[in-house]
Amino acid sequence: MRCEDEIQQTFVALKPDAVERKLIGRIIQRFEDRGFNIIEIKMLKLSKELAEEYYSEHKGKEFYERLITFMTSGKIVAMVIEGERAINTVRKMIGNTCPYDAFPGTIRGDFGLYLPKNIIHASDSIDGAKKEIELFFDSK
Ligand code: TYD
Ligand code: MG
Repeated sequence: MRCEDEIQQTFVALKPDAVERKLIGRIIQRFEDRGFNIIEIKMLKLSKELAEEYYSEHKGKEFYERLITFMTSGKIVAMVIEGERAINTVRKMIGNTCPYDAFPGTIRGDFGLYLPKNIIHASDSIDGAKKEIELFFDSK
């Protein structure tokens, strides 16, 4: 087996439930403990327009309206995280989309139980990370 270096950037958002429950510090600590760098960070309340653009891939799905309502219900913390294989590694650290299916030890598995309040978002692909970083940091 070979382990080649591949430093990547990924987009992460702490959702309104994480902010409301004062989990910001504990979640960021996990990424720093793992060796990742937080290279951009800001707190904002999503407009409906930005939330719809961000989640455009899910438009029309049965959970879409509930998701948009939740994501615009309070402030989020948006950040860019950089480090070795960041996209895949951060996805592993956040755990399964459905918090009740997320393994203990993952962020969703340790802090969440009910949808749509699953604590955290992270990009799921190279294209997704590029799109989300541009949406939140490059055009602002
Ligand atoms: P998705 O992109 O599939 O998951 P992930 O956040 O793990 O990339 O879905 C986006 C969000 O939509 C998800 O975090 C929570 C919400 N959602 C539901 O409420 N119900 C569902 O059945 C799914 C698939 C997602
Ligand atoms: Mg997703």
